[in-house]
Amino acid sequence: MTTAIIIDTDPGIDDVVTLALAARSPELEIVAVTTTYGNATLARTTRNARHVLALAGRSDIPVIPGADRPLVRPLVTAPETHGESGVGHAEPEGEGEGEGEAGPPSSSALPAVVVALHLADAPITLVTLGPLTNLAHALRTDPDLVVTRVRRHIGMFGSLHERGNTNRWADFNAWCDPEAVAEVFGAELPTEMVGLDVTRRMTLDRAEVVRLGRSSDPLVRWLADALRFYVEFHCRQERLDGCVVNDVLTIGQLLEPHLLDFARFRLKIDTGDGEYRGRTLSDPAGAAIRVALDVDVTAMRRLLDRVFGHAWDRPVAEE
Ligand code: BDR
Ligand code: CA
Repeated sequence: MTTAIIIDTDPGIDDVVTLALAARSPELEIVAVTTTYGNATLARTTRNARHVLALAGRSDIPVIPGADRPLVRPLVTAPETHGESGVGHAEPEGEGEGEGEAGPPSSSALPAVVVALHLADAPITLVTLGPLTNLAHALRTDPDLVVTRVRRHIGMFGSLHERGNTNRWADFNAWCDPEAVAEVFGAELPTEMVGLDVTRRMTLDRAEVVRLGRSSDPLVRWLADALRFYVEFHCRQERLDGCVVNDVLTIGQLLEPHLLDFARFRLKIDTGDGEYRGRTLSDPAGAAIRVALDVDVTAMRRLLDRVFGHAWDRPVAEE
């Protein structure tokens, strides 16, 4: 029995690791991948999604380009965190993958998530790894389709107690497009927020990344080149000798239902422009959201063996 999923993503270094994990998990049927601006421009994130799927041998999965900017705010990307290309030191293009363009535009004028939902013949799980703009566009265009087809929405965004990574309070995905988060909250979908409260704990250290670079698997070596940049960023930014691979916990939770502990909160989001922009906070009048508050990091690392192989977490002394 497989779980049908759509992944909405802005690759992004932790996004490509997450896409690789999903692509190598036979329990998941990836109906489509939709892309958004975020860690890099839409053209680049789309190219990166196609390339990692090709490396994983899954070019058969449709990749549908979506929003190239937030609902109402100007476009901001994160070159200091993910590199201009979105994938750090990794070679962003494969043979015949063009000049960094998004590829053929979607043949439909419909939002990418609507197009993807039409490809599914039954209710699906929607996994979001970037700003929620694509989901908000889908809700504006065809709310009934979204409400009937999205059985579960699990997204990496937000933070309840943990310090933000974009301002004091907000994670990057919520900060990019707070209006989109507000629309998703307003739709009363079965949303699960996997935010910095748990993702901050999912780190890879520098030695592990170095070891991945020696893998015999071209996909793993490519991911290691991306991750090396992520380590450099985290080292500069917060003196962490490693990197936080936020997005993987969403797919991890689908594969291992006890990975995360959730509690139900009523949440709202700050849509102001000041220091609280993008803050997700508890409010009695807010939307009912399941929020991840604890994670079994050891179990997540075991799941990453599917991508990285058993060599990646060997102690250095064994080499
Ligand atoms: C989120 O923002 C991006 O930098 C990552 O890909 C992740 O989705 C963390 O705040
Ligand atoms: Ca992401």
